[in-house]
Amino acid sequence: MEKIGILTGGGDAPGLNAVIRAVTVKAIREGYEMVGFKLGWKGLLEKDYRVLTLADVEDIHRLGGTILGSSRTNVGKVENGFEIVKQNLAEMDIHALIAVGGDDTLGVAKQLYDAGGNVVGVPKTIDNDISATDYTFGFDTAINRVMEALDRLHTTTKSHERVMVVEIMGRDAGWITLHGGMAGGAHVILIPEIPFDIDEVCEAVNKRYEEGKNYAIVAVAEGAKNDQLAERMKEYEVLDDFGHVQKSKQKVGIAQVLSEMIEERTGKDTRHLVLGHLQRAGNPSAFDRVFSTRLGVKAMEMVMARQFGMMAAMHAGEIVPVHLEEALGEANTVSSDRYDVAKLFFG
Ligand code: F6P
Repeated sequence: MEKIGILTGGGDAPGLNAVIRAVTVKAIREGYEMVGFKLGWKGLLEKDYRVLTLADVEDIHRLGGTILGSSRTNVGKVENGFEIVKQNLAEMDIHALIAVGGDDTLGVAKQLYDAGGNVVGVPKTIDNDISATDYTFGFDTAINRVMEALDRLHTTTKSHERVMVVEIMGRDAGWITLHGGMAGGAHVILIPEIPFDIDEVCEAVNKRYEEGKNYAIVAVAEGAKNDQLAERMKEYEVLDDFGHVQKSKQKVGIAQVLSEMIEERTGKDTRHLVLGHLQRAGNPSAFDRVFSTRLGVKAMEMVMARQFGMMAAMHAGEIVPVHLEEALGEANTVSSDRYDVAKLFFG
């Protein structure tokens, strides 16, 4: 019986278990054996795996996280990493590998494919910043989390006539902040793609008080940029294995610094809040459960069709194969047109 491997890498995203379930069910029904590597590429480097049965994946599409675990292990950073991975796949007699992850995991998948590996990718990230797909799974759940949080924050912020600065995930892409902020009625939205002007932010806040609205919610992406803050934020930077800034590990984030500045300049009582990992914790939305299931089934169909070096992606609602290099080109970030739609409602 041919064996198929699967791993989940990078930050977890709601929908990972639905992909694992879909791939496993499809693979077993088609007569393959399914093997899940633990903690992303780490499991493949260390031959740490478990055989996946239908019973193992029963109903798990409803659960957040990943039953296989995840890590940000970079094969490229390990001495002879790709050789070890290839050797382990050969020794275990794995016919093909399905790598579920964001740009880092898919980047390693592409390198493995270039080195001769049979690899299919599935794009995952709450950040929604992967190109060549309409959406990534986990994003819909994350924006619903942000919307729910903002819905709640309106009541307390309004009662105390305060300014609330809410920090939302997204180091380079502002999709979660944009969509979550729009849905949750943030009065100002600040994203990494459009450097912000602190005077404009304070102006929008002051205007609300002048108009008698007397409270304001500012949604700020963790990677939002401002020249006056750049030096200060650099002091707190921490890098991960892939050389990316780990905003979630910083002692002080943008929301804290921004709220101090807003209070100083406007004189309004200001608080800040970091939504952090709550945005990707817990069970996936209905959209992500179905979307991830469709991606998983497609990934397995792609393995059977030997469409390696490709990933399953959504194009105009359909799930189709696209080349990994298309996905790994420029990141999918928010355009100024999209931002302008939200901006119309600021203040
Ligand atoms: O890439 C997904 C993501 O959730 C980002 O939005 C966030 O900056 C990062 O992961 C957090 O990483 P970690 O789980 O390592 O704290």
